[in-house]
Amino acid sequence: MFEHLSATKMDPILGLMADYRADPREQKIDLGVGVYMNDRGHTPVMRAVKDAEARLMELEDTKAYQGIAGDPRYNELILELLLGAQHSAVAANRVRTLQAPGGSGALRVGGELIFRAKPNAKLWIGVPTWPNHVPLLSGAGLTIEQYPYYDIAARKINADAMMETLRGVPAGDIVLLHGCCHNPTGADLSKAQWDEIGDLALERGFVPYIDTAYQGLGEGLEADAYGVRSLAEKLPEMIIASSCSKNFGLYRERTGSITFVSATPAQADIVASQAMSVARQIYSMPPAHGALLVAMILGDDQLRSEWSAELDEVRERINAMRRALTERIQQNDGGLDFSHIQQQRGMFSFLGISTEQVDRLREQYGIYIVSSTRVNLAGINTSNIDYLAESMRAVLA
Ligand code: LMR
Repeated sequence: MFEHLSATKMDPILGLMADYRADPREQKIDLGVGVYMNDRGHTPVMRAVKDAEARLMELEDTKAYQGIAGDPRYNELILELLLGAQHSAVAANRVRTLQAPGGSGALRVGGELIFRAKPNAKLWIGVPTWPNHVPLLSGAGLTIEQYPYYDIAARKINADAMMETLRGVPAGDIVLLHGCCHNPTGADLSKAQWDEIGDLALERGFVPYIDTAYQGLGEGLEADAYGVRSLAEKLPEMIIASSCSKNFGLYRERTGSITFVSATPAQADIVASQAMSVARQIYSMPPAHGALLVAMILGDDQLRSEWSAELDEVRERINAMRRALTERIQQNDGGLDFSHIQQQRGMFSFLGISTEQVDRLREQYGIYIVSSTRVNLAGINTSNIDYLAESMRAVLA
């Protein structure tokens, strides 16, 4: 049977991660996969996570199965993090959250649920987007359409073209949006643009599907939730996939959630039962460890403030690197304008250089950047920024 298979192409981000790890050069720099690194180039376990792990070690007295929806306390607290404590849709009992295996697992459950509910619905994805959105969601059976999001040459959101396309999205179709810290461009919707999209969704009857994987890394925990919260206020239905990989540093623990906002409490129950049936068919139950830690952190004042203080440090370090890189390459650029890097938020920005220049940076200098020209700003630190700026000067000259 296996002779009928041929090898597939490696995912562009994870392939780059493997190439970086195999590169023996000492000066190599990883600006590829979206993982936070501190100023020593290390991805630490967050302090609150370490403390929660110590407590869990003491307290945990069983490894028996959890339910399909995971830990109810985690679901409650993660929903509060997403929508805030007093959200009207939660008060109206129209929202259901299930723990999921990472943001990707959450996205897939959402995709499968959409396909069950409305197999002919099209999923509209902004261009560019995280490269795995298309395989992951088309793999759930959904037909993908595109809307323009970012103008690479102008280095900003292509707002007019985006809105024009969204005005033509038929009722019942789904529109995928990034909650904050847009991956791969770092260019986020303004509050006014979120309001405009919410109004349009209400008028046209399309359903937003928000992927939010970086809450707290953009402007802060509350500000980064503006889009999610405002749309959930306005609309009868929407879906939110969220991840704790980046803001809790729980990458390998696969900790995420999927939230459904429905028109009525009765519909919310039906949706939750269908989502649990989807989960049962794919992975049965999500892994427990990361979600138990998150629930412990969010449910404890001391751990929560320790965590949010460290998250502030993470965000500020990334923003400092944004400023530093902009200054260095702005001086050395060979004519290109890189001021957008300083204005954008989250881990990523597009450099907007050529593919050949990306290849030269990797091959000659050991600097790993996704071929779309996406850089992970968290890979820059005070020890490698000079080498990075010099190498870029050489390549851009
Ligand atoms: C990224 O965009 O680099 C991360 O979300 C990791 C991944 O799975 O692609």
